[in-house]
Amino acid sequence: MSETIYDVPAAWAEKAWVTDAQYKEMYAASIKDPDTFWGEHGRRIDWFKPYAKVRNVSYKPGEVSIKWYEDGTTNVAYNCVDRHLATRANQTAIIWEGDDPAESRTITYGQLHAEVCKFANVLKAHGVRKGDRVTIYLPMIPEAAYAMLACARIGAIHSVVFGGFSPDSLSNRIEDADSRVVITADEGLRGGRAVPLKKNVDAADDKVKGGIGAVIVVRRTGGHVTMKPGRDFWYHEEAEKVSGHCPPAEMQAEDPLFILYTSGSTGKPKGVLHSTAGYLVYAAITHQYVFDYHDGDIYWCTADVGWVTGHSYILYGPLANGATTLMFEGIPTYPTISRFWEVIDKHKVNTFYTAPTAIRSLMGAGEEPVKKTSRASLRLLGSVGEPINPEAWEWYHRVVGEGRCPVVDTWWQTETGGILITPLPGATRLKPGSATRPFFGIRPEIVDTEGKVLEGACEGNLVIADSWPGQMRTVYGDHKRFEETYFATYPNKYFTGDGCRRDADGYYWITGRVDDVINVSGHRMGTAEVESALVAHPAVSEAAVVGYPHDIKGQGIYAYVTLMTGESPSEDLRKELVAHVRREIGPIASPDLIQFSPGLPKTRSGKIMRRILRKIAEDEHGALGDTSTLADPAVVDDLVANRQNRR
Ligand code: PRX
Repeated sequence: MSETIYDVPAAWAEKAWVTDAQYKEMYAASIKDPDTFWGEHGRRIDWFKPYAKVRNVSYKPGEVSIKWYEDGTTNVAYNCVDRHLATRANQTAIIWEGDDPAESRTITYGQLHAEVCKFANVLKAHGVRKGDRVTIYLPMIPEAAYAMLACARIGAIHSVVFGGFSPDSLSNRIEDADSRVVITADEGLRGGRAVPLKKNVDAADDKVKGGIGAVIVVRRTGGHVTMKPGRDFWYHEEAEKVSGHCPPAEMQAEDPLFILYTSGSTGKPKGVLHSTAGYLVYAAITHQYVFDYHDGDIYWCTADVGWVTGHSYILYGPLANGATTLMFEGIPTYPTISRFWEVIDKHKVNTFYTAPTAIRSLMGAGEEPVKKTSRASLRLLGSVGEPINPEAWEWYHRVVGEGRCPVVDTWWQTETGGILITPLPGATRLKPGSATRPFFGIRPEIVDTEGKVLEGACEGNLVIADSWPGQMRTVYGDHKRFEETYFATYPNKYFTGDGCRRDADGYYWITGRVDDVINVSGHRMGTAEVESALVAHPAVSEAAVVGYPHDIKGQGIYAYVTLMTGESPSEDLRKELVAHVRREIGPIASPDLIQFSPGLPKTRSGKIMRRILRKIAEDEHGALGDTSTLADPAVVDDLVANRQNRR
C-alpha cells in the first residue's frame, strides 16, 4: 500500500469552497444535526412548495422507508434548466463533442429549454403521463439529455439502458419497468463504428410480452433502418407537430425520477429507483464541493449516460448548478490515443473525471501521446468506478495533471445516487489509492462478518449507518428485495457490498466487492448473470464465474464451464461461448478466460465452493485452504492443472 501523501496545494486551499478546517467543522455539524444541515442545503434547489419536514427515515428490518423533504414539491427539469434562464440563457449548458473530432457543438441553457420542452411534448403526444416509465436507449448525443430532462419535466420515470447492452438485456429491462415507450436512435457511433441501436430495439420488441407501444427514433447517422408503421416514429418529424411550450409538472419530493438497472450478486439486474428532490439536492451539493465547481468552469465527465455517473455527474448535478458540462460521444483511443487530451485542449476543460480503467489503458501507450498536448486549462482530476491502483493514480497525477492538479478518487454506487467517500480538493491531503474521507452527512462504518463495528485502523465490510438524501428508495417493483439486499446483512445499516480498510488517519481504502459481483472496467457484472447466459448455450451443462485481477480492466471474467455429455472442448467452442455471452448480455460481459472443467468443486450438499474457484483464477492455488469438505477433492487437482491464468 502506498503511503505517499500529497498536501493541498496552497492556491487550492485559498480558492476552494472549503478548507480542511471548514471540512471538519461542516462534517461534524452534518453528523450531529442532519436535519439542520440538510434543511439548509435542501434550499440549493428551487421549490414550488417549500418543505417543512427534512427527513423521515427508518432502516428497521421489515419497515425500511426513506423519505427526504417529503412535503415539498418541485421539478427536476425546472431546476436544471428553467431557473437558470434569467441569468444564463446564453451560457453554454452542454458542449457536445462528437465521435469524429470535426463534429462538435454547444447548446445554451436557452436552447436546452426549447429542446426539452419540445421533447416533452412529443412524449405527451404519444400518451406518456406522470408516473409512466420511458426506456431510453440512446448514444451519447444531446438528445439523450433532452429525453431525460423531458421525462423529468412531465413527471415520467426514465430508465436509461446503456447502448452496449444486447437486445435480450434491453427487453428484460423494458419488461421489468413495464415501459410502453422506447426512445432510441438509428445508430450510435463509437470509434468510427456504427452501433445498430434501432435494430436492437426491433429484436428486443420480439421478446417483450405484449410488445413495445411506441419507438421514437432520433436520426443520428442516417444509416438505413426499417420503420414499422404505427410503432416507429422519427423524432424530428414528431417534433415539428408539437408546440414549444410545456410547463414543468409539479412533483412531490418523493415521486420517482428514474430507474437504473444494476447487477447484484443474485438473480436479474435490479431496478434501482431514485426519487426527485433528495437525489437532485445530493447530486448538486456533491458536484459543487467534490469538483469545487465555480461559475465559468468547464467540466467534463467521460462516463456514458447509461450509467449512474452519467446521470448524476454529466447531467443532473452540473445542470442543477448551472454549469457547462461536456458530453463526449466517442472513445479515448479514436482517432488517436491522444483524444482525451486533445478534447481537453479544444474546449479548455478545467475539471476532468474518468475511470481508472481508461487511465490504465492510456498509461500503456506511454507519456508522449499525453505530453504532446497542452492541458494547461486543467485544474482538477477525478476518478470513479473501481479502486485506482497507486501506480495509475501517480501517473494520472504526474503525467496528465503535471503534478499541479489534485486527484479526487470518488467512491460511490448506483444505489447511493452520488459520491459518498471522497477528497475535497481544497481540504484533503491525498493518499494515492485511498478515497479518503466521508462527504458531509455520510456515516461510514466498518464491520466484521458478525456485524460488530470496528474502531480505529481496521479492515472489514463497509456499511453506512444513516441515510443521506441521494440514497435509492427501493428496487422498482420489489421492496422486499431492496430490504433483503441492503438492510438484512447488518440490521439497521445500509450494506454496500464493498470491503474496506481504514487507516490510522481515518482514511478509507476500498478493497473491492465482497459479494458475487465483479467490477470489469468500472462496470458492475453479476457472476450469476454471466453463468445463466453460459448455461443457456446447448453445449453447456454447468458454469461458475469469478473475477481475477486484470491489468487494464481491474477485474477480468473467468468462467469455468462443464460441458454436456458428448460435447468436447475446442477453441471454436470457446469462441462460440464468448460470442454467445456477448449476444445474451452485451460485450461488457465477455468472458476473458474460459476453462473447460469436467467437474466443479462442490460441498457434499451441492454448493459450489467459489472461494476455491477464485483462488485458482487468481493463480493463488497455493492458498486453497481446506478442501476436505468437498464431495470430490480430486476435482481441484484437475482445475489447478488446467487453469487458464498462467503468469
Ligand atoms: O465496488 C465499488 C466500485 O464500484 C461499485 C459501484 O458500481 P456502480 O454501481 O456501477 O457505480 C459505479 C459508479 C459510481 C462499488 O460498490 N467503486 C466505485 N467507485 C469506486 C469503487 N471502488 C473503489 N474506489 C472507487 N472510487
